Amino acid sequence: MRQQLSSREAPNQTIREVVVESDGLSIPSSGLQERWTVYSNLGANLYHGDFLEVSEQWPSPTVIIVDGPYGVGSFPGDPVSHEELPGWYRPHIEHWSERSLPETTLWFWNTEIGWASVHPVLAEAGWEYRSCHIWDKGVGHIAGNANSKTLRRFPVVTEVCVQYVKKVSVPTQAGSLDLKQWLRYEWERSGLPLYKANAACGVKNAATRKYLTKCHLWYFPPPEAFGLLADYANLHGPPEGRPYFSLDGVRPATVEEWSKMRAKFNCDIGITNVWREPAVRGPERLKNLYKCVHMNQKPVKLIEQAIIATSDLGDVVWEPFGGLCSGAIAAVNTGRRCYSAEILADYFMESQKRLANHAISQTLPT
Ligand SMILES: C[S@@+](CC[C@H](N)C(=O)[O-])C[C@H]1O[C@@H](n2cnc3c(N)ncnc32)[C@H](O)[C@@H]1O
Repeated sequence: MRQQLSSREAPNQTIREVVVESDGLSIPSSGLQERWTVYSNLGANLYHGDFLEVSEQWPSPTVIIVDGPYGVGSFPGDPVSHEELPGWYRPHIEHWSERSLPETTLWFWNTEIGWASVHPVLAEAGWEYRSCHIWDKGVGHIAGNANSKTLRRFPVVTEVCVQYVKKVSVPTQAGSLDLKQWLRYEWERSGLPLYKANAACGVKNAATRKYLTKCHLWYFPPPEAFGLLADYANLHGPPEGRPYFSLDGVRPATVEEWSKMRAKFNCDIGITNVWREPAVRGPERLKNLYKCVHMNQKPVKLIEQAIIATSDLGDVVWEPFGGLCSGAIAAVNTGRRCYSAEILADYFMESQKRLANHAISQTLPT
């Protein structure tokens, strides 16, 4: 590696970053004023630095894999108590909210109490809880390591990975409305009777019962149904109120635009919210001689599962707290683009080596 100068080390410099490389490391070619040490390969981009500083130019994510501090002091910079986590995560969470799309899913890994402590901050920043997944590492995880006399509790062999989606709202003259409220508001604004929505969609009563209801049985209209509602209102509603069902105030939203108004989800059969998978071991575990390189290395398989469920080929994955960048490896394996940040030089170097080796292994004959 050549010279590295981070903005935190040199806060007064205007051109803040000198970058780069040893063999095979690439320099970003964007000509940005601020450049960071970055290693790109196979569609994954590993940045050395504080996520909040290096992510400014990253494209918006479809998936965010969050595996940051746990409040157990397990790596340099990890607070020693879960009570510190809400304050630690707040600026990051606010940044994810600002940069995300209605399509974005956030996967938050932590201990149970760590997640419970941070949940209110996520909720306040507009992240809607979807589901809590239990990573059950199995009894092998504590074999020979737990002294039940001194522990005073049952041995812990789990972590959680919690799925959040963005709360989506649309600005209107009546204020900011969530999607359920907005659909109903737009239909009422068209002055058409409610039952006509069924005719518009060619259904018996699904439109009134599901898409325009005010109750908890509300259902996100499939894109084609949304298109039919919008077409009908714009054709039959009074001209002075047009466009109806518009996101930009200029023309009705398209079917394509509506389909991007919620987080993606592809449900594979047989996967539940309990993920039984041993802690990483064998050739996947990165080691320096006998010692694990990073205590928190996650199984690539579990991250792949989350990415596949909530994005499509070519989509962008963010990994704000890279460690050994298992998220980047999972993104590569599933044909997504990835942006990862790791603040500590040693872990960053290890993650570069890992990605480089992964690229080599993909070119070898099987
Ligand atoms: C729990 S570990 C991630 C482990 C990773 N999922 C893996 O499988 O290897 C969290 C990592 O985040 C890094 N980190 C902490 N704060 C950071 C920040 N502000 N920006 C970037 N990385 C950070 C830590 O150095 C640590 O390596």
